[in-house]
Amino acid sequence: MDIRNQFPIYKEFQNKNFVYLDSASTTLKHESVISKLKEYNSKYSANIHRSVYPIAEKATYEFEQSRIKISNFINSKSEEIIFTKSATESINLVAYSWGLSNLKKNDIILISKMEHHSNMVPWQFVAKKTGCILKYIPLLDDGSLDLESFESLLSSKVKLISLIHQSNVLGIVNPIEDIIKKAHQNKTLVMIDAAQSISHIEIDVEKIDCDFLVFSGHKMFGSTGVGVLYGKYDLLDQMDPFLYGGQMINKVGEQNSTWNKVPLKFEAGTPNIGEVISLGASIDFIDSIGFSKMNQHLTSITNAYLELLNTFEEINIYGQANNRGPVISFNIKGVHPYDFCQIMGQHNICLRAGNHCAQPLLERFGENSTNRISFQVYNTLDELSYFDEKLKQTIALLS
Ligand code: ALA
Repeated sequence: MDIRNQFPIYKEFQNKNFVYLDSASTTLKHESVISKLKEYNSKYSANIHRSVYPIAEKATYEFEQSRIKISNFINSKSEEIIFTKSATESINLVAYSWGLSNLKKNDIILISKMEHHSNMVPWQFVAKKTGCILKYIPLLDDGSLDLESFESLLSSKVKLISLIHQSNVLGIVNPIEDIIKKAHQNKTLVMIDAAQSISHIEIDVEKIDCDFLVFSGHKMFGSTGVGVLYGKYDLLDQMDPFLYGGQMINKVGEQNSTWNKVPLKFEAGTPNIGEVISLGASIDFIDSIGFSKMNQHLTSITNAYLELLNTFEEINIYGQANNRGPVISFNIKGVHPYDFCQIMGQHNICLRAGNHCAQPLLERFGENSTNRISFQVYNTLDELSYFDEKLKQTIALLS
């Protein structure tokens, strides 16, 4: 796939190797996103939903167009799309606004051992505040969810399941449709954390029937500072606001106020206007490639790296389940991930070391850090030989 020239960062490294393998952390930014952000800031940088002069109307129009594009992208109604600053904030919104009001002592929230801290710590907070209990779906040795345990954990006490779609550590893609079906038979709501999957897996919220879905713009070629929360309208309508202030109100008196309609009820204050507008350009870019072509490309790259890493006796890859997205975590015997990633970084190979904000998951595998490589549409098979060369050199240096 020849699209690297659409990612300006590669021009910074002309005639040099630059292998970006940290897209699970944040993707590179597409040129159309950069120019849309610049267009807003240079041509109509007014506030939205307030003023009636032309550039303010233009800004509001572009902002709402982005909402419509995102809703079409996941097949929701546009008013079911709420802009936040990150996927983390979207989860916190549900934790505060739905969790604190709807959960009580001894109710159960079910998450998995695979969750990112952002889908774990807010529920610990809610559990402490409400007296409800936080339970975990365990993992099998291949890293996949233990679905038998999941079924045995389901009971009338389970009010919410909040689950990562694709693991940011193991790359494993969870069978969310089946899980949602079983949860709904049990009258349990389901929130899906799609931060890692939204850029390359087609998600139709009507079809999968999740109750909430969160993701962030910067993991889909967009700017940082934009998160999305999808929620079923009736649920959102019944929830209290999360943040209070301007724009989320209907009528304000000295002591009491009433709230704006969904989604504005949840969008207090001036949002990241340009960043939201430019997220629409990300959607256009993804649509221009199409999920099928994208996945073909990502699968071939992931498999090629897996094949290479598997040739090293001293390398251990975590998570061997079949349904894997473009993420691989591994360790090299006797080599600390931070040392390895730092030396690879000196060769302009960007990968991540650490616990990847998933300490319980790493503990499940007896580790406290791993190396992680993750791929996107701009990675190429040509990069593999340079990675291989520097991998061998670095292992020899550090062993
Ligand atoms: N959630 C991002 C990651 O896994 C930051 O690296």
